[in-house]
Amino acid sequence: MPERRLPPTRRALFAALLLLLLALAGAGAAYRAWQARHQQNALGRAIFQGEVAVPARLARHAVALPPLATRCANCHEDRAVLPLASPAPPSSAATILGAGAAVAARAAASAPATFAVRLDAAWLAEPHVRRGGPAVAYDAARLCRLLRSGIDPANIVISPTMPRYDSTDAQCQALWAYLQSR
Ligand code: HEC
Repeated sequence: MPERRLPPTRRALFAALLLLLLALAGAGAAYRAWQARHQQNALGRAIFQGEVAVPARLARHAVALPPLATRCANCHEDRAVLPLASPAPPSSAATILGAGAAVAARAAASAPATFAVRLDAAWLAEPHVRRGGPAVAYDAARLCRLLRSGIDPANIVISPTMPRYDSTDAQCQALWAYLQSR
């Protein structure tokens, strides 16, 4: 029986089509992965800036704090980039408030740039020491544990000034992804 074979031009065409389909599938997967990462980063940023609230309490307290008090940016962002400033007062009030504003401006200028450390990928990757404990760096799981329990990677409890968060795995992974992008 004669063997049925495709003419070489057809075979080349099939091969090209197959390659094209594979390339499209690959590009689609890469795009979906990029999109997922982008959405995760956006969620992390929104939590950090307080646009998405994660329920949180003071250590050893049952009552939930208001979302404005729990956004990470309050304490871990440079004051200069934090949108906390109230709009400029009208000019007549400005005269009256002028002296007060000058005092406030001087106080702000002499205050430290952030209340707690400015969190970013470099800081989290670098081992740090707290109260004589071993030097430790962060990973996603360690960040999640710290947020929920206040226990740092060296098993030392951090200051009660920082709220304790009921963050889900997804929220905490998103925060980690965002902090890695800073
Ligand atoms: C009210 C202020 C405040 C808020 C809000 C806050 N933190 Fe903190 N955070 C602190 C303070 C203060 C420390 C240092 C505690 C210590 O050294 O004992 C700290 C420490 C940390 C550390 C460990 C850094 C270190 O010094 O070892 C991480 C990580 C962290 N915070 C992440 C977050 C994230 C993420 C959020 C938001 C979900 C957040 N924090 C919200 C005040 C805050």
